[in-house]
Amino acid sequence: MARLLVLHGPNLNLLGQREPGIYGDVTLDAINTKLEQLAGEAGVSLRCFQSNSEAELIEAIHNAATNGTEYVLINPAAFTHTSIALRDALAASELPFFEIHISNVHAREPFRHTSYFSDLAQGVICGFGPQGYELALGHVLSQIQ
Ligand code: DQA
Repeated sequence: MARLLVLHGPNLNLLGQREPGIYGDVTLDAINTKLEQLAGEAGVSLRCFQSNSEAELIEAIHNAATNGTEYVLINPAAFTHTSIALRDALAASELPFFEIHISNVHAREPFRHTSYFSDLAQGVICGFGPQGYELALGHVLSQIQ
């Protein structure tokens, strides 16, 4: 079972075509491939999962709580600003997690300045583009090795 779980929230399947001025032109597949490669080189198993459904993301967290997952890296996307349910799932899991945003949400609309996750997260990375995922993974790998 994967020791690390990377969760991507709604609309992140559209990376590469979605608002490239904000999110860039790197696809989700490219991000996931890079993360899998980095984890593989470190001998750590990593699984990536994207969903546009809040329920599916919650189920993935419930499963992670009991299947040996050690860390979660999550970009909750728009659910960052809306989802108490997803927050509660992470809290219930008691898994350490890192919150990642491709864009600098604090430099955007006021409704993006609020996160239901940041106060529970071990760390938050935003505004580093897709590289934010790699920075978070690098930190997690240094913690578990
Ligand atoms: C995002 C920022 C969110 O506000 C937005 O809803 C997203 C992506 C980011 O990665 O910058 O979908 O989480």
